[in-house]
Amino acid sequence: MAKEVKTIGILTSGGDAPGMNAAIRAVTRTAIAYGKNVKGIRRGYSGLLEEDIIDLSSTDVSDIIQRGGTILYTARSKEFMTPEGQDKGAQICKKHGIDGLVVIGGDGSFRGAGKLAERGINTVGLPGTIDLDIPCTDYTIGFDTAVNTAMEAIDKIRDTSTSHERVSIIEVMGRKAGYIALWCGIANGAEDVLITERYDHNEQRLIDDIVEKRHVGKKHHIIVNAEGIGDSYGLAERIQNTTGIETRATIIGHIQRGGSPTAKDRVYASSMGTLAVDLLAKGASNRVVGYREGKFVDYDIQEALAMTKDVDQFMYTMAKRLSR
Ligand code: ADP
Ligand code: F6P
Repeated sequence: MAKEVKTIGILTSGGDAPGMNAAIRAVTRTAIAYGKNVKGIRRGYSGLLEEDIIDLSSTDVSDIIQRGGTILYTARSKEFMTPEGQDKGAQICKKHGIDGLVVIGGDGSFRGAGKLAERGINTVGLPGTIDLDIPCTDYTIGFDTAVNTAMEAIDKIRDTSTSHERVSIIEVMGRKAGYIALWCGIANGAEDVLITERYDHNEQRLIDDIVEKRHVGKKHHIIVNAEGIGDSYGLAERIQNTTGIETRATIIGHIQRGGSPTAKDRVYASSMGTLAVDLLAKGASNRVVGYREGKFVDYDIQEALAMTKDVDQFMYTMAKRLSR
């Protein structure tokens, strides 16, 4: 029989992402609307093990929907990776009356949520990462804001790149995944986009392309490089030495993780937070919320973790074609 939860905990785990606050607000206010108590667990699983737990009221989540980062802070915890740490985490939840838990993070955080579900805490995961690298969903909280931040930065670099007739390599985040790079490649009209999932390491082809485009009159050459490929400074030096064209590298870095979330991140994160509480209110556990084919959906955690995904080939081919 479905277990009725009375107190819902929320934590954010792994890298922060713009929109996490909108999700925290939605979870808190939906839970209150259902008549549940709400507790915020600060610093992810690490804070859970340290019992860094606070009550959350509706007013505690006022004025946060527009703020980047996470008001609950985030951390990584090695102790929670052990069965002993997970037993302790479940006991602490029980001690504080937390019988339902919303975990906002990536695949690692969902694994942790699965461990708590095995120990009797009803859990629901929400995909929160700028990297878009969670297989069970086409949308992750923070990606839209991060892409827009990177796009604006690349537009600015493009201005100076054109003035100086340079090659510019811009490295964007994404860990091993190339989603931010691919989206920027298209949105910024880059001459080239290098992503881990497709890169052939053929630097000569890259150089021939730069020279060819120079001959047809291109004043700049923007290369968006994914963090998973890296070596942007080395690549810039090799291109400059081989072609004689001034080349600069910029690593955009953590600016992509911050800032006020876009409307899409606010609305989708709010929707996911609301759905998470709807699921807990129905007695569901061990679920992950996703967005697939235009709908918010949910999956069993282990089923979600077993999924794989690849960058969209249509988008990749388009990025290449439109740069010609
Ligand atoms: P993300 O959630 O973004 O994938 P991590 O992989 O760093 O980020 O995971 C965040 C936290 O989730 C870890 O610090 C750890 O506490 C917990 N976690 C990760 N993997 C597991 C696991 N296999 N079992 C239990 N907890 C885990
Ligand atoms: O997962 C989000 C992310 O920003 C990645 O794009 C990047 O590789 C990583 O986190 C950076 O992590 P940290 O903030 O710990 O350096």
